[in-house]
Amino acid sequence: MSFLPFNRPVRTAFVGLGRIYDLNILAYRDNPDAEVVALVDPDPDRRAQRQAEWPDAASFPSIAELAASGIELDAVESLLPITMHADGIVEMLDHGWHVNAQKPMCNDLASARRMIKAADANDRVLRVMENYLFYEPLHKLKAVVESGEIGEVVGYHMKMVGVGNGGWDVPFSSFEYQMEQMKIGRGIMVFDDGWHKLSTALWLFGPIREVRAWIGNTHMGPGVDIDAPTMIVWEHENGVRGGWDVTCAPDMYLRSDYYTNDERWEVTGYHGYARVNRCTGRGIQQPSLEVYSAGEMRSYHALDDDWGSTFRESGRHWLRWLHSGEGPLLWSAQEAVDVLRFALAAYESSAAGSVGVDPRKVS
Ligand SMILES: NC(=O)c1ccc[n+]([C@@H]2O[C@H](COP(=O)([O-])OP(=O)(O)OC[C@H]3O[C@@H](n4cnc5c(N)ncnc54)[C@H](O)[C@@H]3O)[C@@H](O)[C@H]2O)c1
Repeated sequence: MSFLPFNRPVRTAFVGLGRIYDLNILAYRDNPDAEVVALVDPDPDRRAQRQAEWPDAASFPSIAELAASGIELDAVESLLPITMHADGIVEMLDHGWHVNAQKPMCNDLASARRMIKAADANDRVLRVMENYLFYEPLHKLKAVVESGEIGEVVGYHMKMVGVGNGGWDVPFSSFEYQMEQMKIGRGIMVFDDGWHKLSTALWLFGPIREVRAWIGNTHMGPGVDIDAPTMIVWEHENGVRGGWDVTCAPDMYLRSDYYTNDERWEVTGYHGYARVNRCTGRGIQQPSLEVYSAGEMRSYHALDDDWGSTFRESGRHWLRWLHSGEGPLLWSAQEAVDVLRFALAAYESSAAGSVGVDPRKVS
């Protein structure tokens, strides 16, 4: 791809101005690398609300009207509902814009191929942002593991509890998109939020050769089925095995500035372990990273463990990358396909009675 000129900010449009806009926008505030030139959402209230902060930006009800306006644009923050990712992102790439897309990339491999084809055909970059890879406690966990401080890795697990009370308000319209997804077997725990957990597994220990899953269901009411309790286990190509336990606790309260998701990661080595105690919510009130080795516990008290910061750092990384092309995209579209394959392998395994499935072979 041709990189942007160094001497001016990245002219960006935000497409989709819903709940997650509040965090994606953090990378653009007070950032001389970027200029917000357009805002797109069919909802006039959303447009008016968001435009208060960017009075010079033009606003449009649709991508087509933005394109027809002739506004010069380099890139787009795609914050569309998941049900619109594939078509919307292809449309934006076809207009010649680089796209920083929210996860999940899309629901199936055929859509992913279509999206990558559009990026290639237009010589544009499609990034599927993964903000969890910018969470400082997870970064430190990775560094500790790679330093050999806990010895050779013998295994790891992740835990996630979807909690019913606490956190910020989520508009009912956001749940409606998720209910559409539930109908086609792409649940809110395993596929939507789970996308992040599967991403961290790939990021920590590399490609996966086998996945076994037991995906459950909790019926919450008409049209609302939560894909928990669920257990997924897997083996990386390097022989490390991981597991993820997904549960739903509808009446539990969790203190959180964002979604009510209680999460942890724990890696065990030959002579110690390293554990990240929380991420999105403020579940375990201990230092966000603890490392035990040879009889001693070390606690990290000064890491930036505000989940919101991950969006700021991920977005800034993207804006720098557009100018320099330096470093990994976190994620490139191809890497996002690996995450998708991981999820699809879990579905295939569960449907076939929890047999082992090679994610490289799902179709
Ligand atoms: N990284 C994370 O942790 C994280 C967290 C939450 C959501 N997300 C992702 O962010 C995306 C948006 O989620 P959200 O929670 O903000 O959803 P939301 O429902 O709150 O907002 C979606 C917005 O898109 C608008 N929209 C609908 N059709 C449109 C169109 N054709 N063109 C432009 N705008 C349109 C809606 O009016 C709404 O304002 C989803 O892909 C979701 O999976 C990621």
